[in-house]
Amino acid sequence: MRISVIGCGYLGAVHAASMASLGHDVVGIDVDANKVARLAAGQAPFYEPGLPELLTEVGATGRLRFSTDMADAAGAQVHFVCVGTPQKQGEFRADLSYVDAAVDALLPHLAPGDVVAGKSTVPVGTAEELAARLEPTGATLVWNPEFLREGFAVQDTLHPDRLVYGLPTDEDGVPTAEGEAARALLDEVYATPLGEGTPLVATDYATAQLVKVAANSFLATKISFINAMAELCEATGADVTRLADAIGYDARIGRRFLNAGLGFGGGCLPKDIRAFMARAGELGVDQALSFLREVDSINMRRRVRMVDLAREVCAGSIVGRRVAVLGAAFKPDSDDVRDSPALSVAAQMQLQGAHVTVTDPQAVENARAKWPDLKFAASALEAAQGADVVLLATEWAEYRELDPAELGAVVARRAVVDGRNVLDPRTWRAAGWTYRALGRP
Ligand code: UDX
Repeated sequence: MRISVIGCGYLGAVHAASMASLGHDVVGIDVDANKVARLAAGQAPFYEPGLPELLTEVGATGRLRFSTDMADAAGAQVHFVCVGTPQKQGEFRADLSYVDAAVDALLPHLAPGDVVAGKSTVPVGTAEELAARLEPTGATLVWNPEFLREGFAVQDTLHPDRLVYGLPTDEDGVPTAEGEAARALLDEVYATPLGEGTPLVATDYATAQLVKVAANSFLATKISFINAMAELCEATGADVTRLADAIGYDARIGRRFLNAGLGFGGGCLPKDIRAFMARAGELGVDQALSFLREVDSINMRRRVRMVDLAREVCAGSIVGRRVAVLGAAFKPDSDDVRDSPALSVAAQMQLQGAHVTVTDPQAVENARAKWPDLKFAASALEAAQGADVVLLATEWAEYRELDPAELGAVVARRAVVDGRNVLDPRTWRAAGWTYRALGRP
């Protein structure tokens, strides 16, 4: 099938390459000429495991092209809208200007019977508005949210754990004839994952839009729940990692996404819960989501606590102290620094008078662009030279496996704050380190 993918960021670039790998003929469109040039040359414009290999694999088939010209979307039967919906400056609401611009630019190139499939995370109600705008073209809008995780984006796109279609429905909630036709087209697009038994939830627009923000709100709540328990653990001498193991054995709770530490960041969870709260307010049901305010504050408190712990191990003051921060990405296996807890801690400490050196296996360039005043190093050993305290802020495998003796040889003082609860306290203490962690004695 001929497919266009509008927006080639973390979501769209992976989606375009994955659709080509499923056998479709794909054009990826983005306004950023630099990004398009790199993708067209078969290079991933950001770090995502498996994406370079996928681009090479599908590049050889000739089924994947990239362009800055929206006219190249003409002739495709399905158009995926994958542009960003960041948080609005100074507000909780989502900025929909990229979605609006993408749809407006696409309108003249649509043919009757085409499907426009929205993947961007939007406030509920957006799909209904966009569908009205598409009406004169004869194209059908479907809301088809995406659940991919950065770091596993290729795997999550090729083998999703579920597919959701939000279809146009009549007053009884039954898909219209156009809705059924659109569903059949999408079934063809996703024939391979559907053939593998991927569950499909076909529903109305409102539900499909809510699925995405509900899922992310649940995940954020789960993380903040365990981080709230970490605060209790800190007050009582309990160990939050053992607590998580023990409650996680209850299948109703589950151990996944129950890792206490510096909390969540990234381009999705923080802004999605805020935009969801803002939307609930507009709908007059703000009380329903007021708990998310607490989820957000628990999450932000972890960053402050991390700085406080570092201050404690520096005998009460970080002014003039050398601090090594291991990790800048918002999570391992990503170079994304959007709302990164690691970078936020590094910046706070620098602002409070510490001399901070940050390292990350992939995210140094992005971090430098955001915080040019911080110092950056190429490796953990280099960052830790002469450090008074080492902070583990993003749990990259290479930091989890650090040798405390080797690192101990380069620091000024053997003090580590484990912001992700991934180091073994006994091993580090045995090597002469002062070990502190979020939620562990
Ligand atoms: C998230 C959703 O998981 C995904 O389904 C959605 O499509 C987009 O948003 P992503 O932003 O890639 O994906 O990251 P995710 O793996 O969910 O992690 C989010 C943040 O939570 C990271 O900062 C991570 O470090 C943190 N986290 C995750 C924890 O602090 N503890 C955990 O147990 C899990």
